[in-house]
Amino acid sequence: MNNILTVDGPSGVGKGSVARIIAQEQNWHLLDSGAIYRAFALAVDSRGIDITDEGSLETVAQELDLEFKTEKDSELVSVYLDGVDVSKTLRTEQTGEMASKIASIGVVRAALLKRQQDFAKPPGLVADGRDMGTTVFPDAKFKVFLTASAQERANRRLKQLQAQGYKGIISQILADVVARDERDSSRKHSPLKPAEDALVIDTTELSIDEVITRVSDLIKA
Ligand code: DC
Repeated sequence: MNNILTVDGPSGVGKGSVARIIAQEQNWHLLDSGAIYRAFALAVDSRGIDITDEGSLETVAQELDLEFKTEKDSELVSVYLDGVDVSKTLRTEQTGEMASKIASIGVVRAALLKRQQDFAKPPGLVADGRDMGTTVFPDAKFKVFLTASAQERANRRLKQLQAQGYKGIISQILADVVARDERDSSRKHSPLKPAEDALVIDTTELSIDEVITRVSDLIKA
């Protein structure tokens, strides 16, 4: 099953929205791989596991009780960890930060690999993350890599927070974005980088509709 679109890129670039809309358009399955790393980070944190204890990390990864449920009459996907809805906690900056740290550990990536690959089912899959096109689905038929300036991504994140009723400080958000880019790109295992055969789209000056059109055109072509 290589009827797969991979959508990789740095944090705050809009991968999640693009992946969700294309999956709906095509009627394909959706994999939010960042949610798996985030849920894993929450599981490790709640069990009080030391992140240098690779044996325990591997066990938690293998036993991770994780479920994605599409809510009735809604396009929202809720995430259940150990039977508890963790969708809200999952999206916080703090969880993202923990996920980014823990995702740099090789045994963690290896233990979570198959769980991600299992999402590839007919009629197709849209997978978003950092290494979908390079490591998890190297044979995917369609690959895009989205970029945008760090300033633009921080602005988008601020708007997103404000829309959810939160306040944000742009300088702090920008510093977080830059720190996360640095960690995700410089790690040894599956660093954030475009696959050689990916279409790279700089979205700094593009609307979400324009990005969707380019990605849809790639699939049609
Ligand atoms: O996409 P996101 O912000 O939900 O991802 C949270 C962190 O998880 C990200 O900073 C790095 C890690 N991650 C990863 O290493 N590989 C992926 N395929 C997806 C996420």
